[in-house]
Amino acid sequence: MPSDITAAAAGTWKLGDLTVNRMGFGAMRITANPDRSVAIRVLRRAVELGVNHLDTAAFYATPGGTPGISDEGPTRYANELIREALAPYPEDLVITTKVGPGVNPERGFYNATTAAELRTQVEENLRQLGRDHLDVVNLRVMDGSGSIAERFGWLAELRDAGLIRHLGISNVRPDHLDEAEPIAPLVCVQNSYSLDTHRSDDTFLRTCADRGIAYVPFFAIAGASGGRGAMPASSAAVQALAAAHNATTQQIRLAWTLHQSPNVLAIPGTGNPAHLDENIAAGALTLTPEELATLT
Ligand SMILES: NC(=O)c1ccc[n+]([C@@H]2O[C@H](COP(=O)([O-])OP(=O)(O)OC[C@H]3O[C@@H](n4cnc5c(N)ncnc54)[C@H](OP(=O)(O)O)[C@@H]3O)[C@@H](O)[C@H]2O)c1
Repeated sequence: MPSDITAAAAGTWKLGDLTVNRMGFGAMRITANPDRSVAIRVLRRAVELGVNHLDTAAFYATPGGTPGISDEGPTRYANELIREALAPYPEDLVITTKVGPGVNPERGFYNATTAAELRTQVEENLRQLGRDHLDVVNLRVMDGSGSIAERFGWLAELRDAGLIRHLGISNVRPDHLDEAEPIAPLVCVQNSYSLDTHRSDDTFLRTCADRGIAYVPFFAIAGASGGRGAMPASSAAVQALAAAHNATTQQIRLAWTLHQSPNVLAIPGTGNPAHLDENIAAGALTLTPEELATLT
């Protein structure tokens, strides 16, 4: 595939009043390498390649996710790497973060369940990123069974106060969207989804499209491997399409998500500069209806 492809190749989408290229970048993997300069290089290259939608979280931190110093050196925070690499931020850069899960030295990993805890997490993102407001904040739901109305309402108050520009929800079902929409406008839903996982969201992503809301899949490459990383093996159909397009299986997985609907935004995560280039290039892949049918 040509190497001059940019993140604009797959077109754009509007998160409220903010226009982003549909091919974005997920920052969860950039803390993996103890050499900070690699993460800095990946982030700067992403922006150079036209990425203007970055997904992050204050709790994306390594080692161990818990702040402190280990044998591996001081904790690396995705947000601080983003700030070091990209501030002063390009005008068109949209940084999406998430609250709900958090880490702190006293409690380790915890789930925010009060207005004060959510506000603390929003302020932590502001501080780490060095911004006076957050472009997009997802309420990342950890306990899927209950109501999200109260927590979403508290975030809506922070939006009204000017700390947040737009809201979204993550790890949610359609009834959560129905519950949140009357409280405040939403610009995105971020769920785990790929060509071979969570296909129950096939209809949900179209519901989002009908309502003008972006659907942002995570683990599009990782699939069932989730946090462990890229899928170790691919189906024969994915391999065949990869061979036909002179592409990698990971590129086919990414391209498949973008072909599901114009409101799907990709946020592939990598700490590897070569993988970054490949992922951006996947936005230029065109799969025919017949090819897509072989994957379903
Ligand atoms: N809302 C939520 O609850 C939630 C949960 C998880 C993640 N997220 C967000 O979604 C983003 C995407 O998820 P993710 O990063 O976990 O998973 P992913 O993008 O599906 O896959 C990332 C994994 O695949 C590897 N990879 C990436 N590009 C590759 C390529 N071209 N060829 C081969 N391997 C490749 C990465 O390793 P290398 O680093 O070695 O490339 C990493 O192990 C995250 O970065 C994060 O911003 C959100």
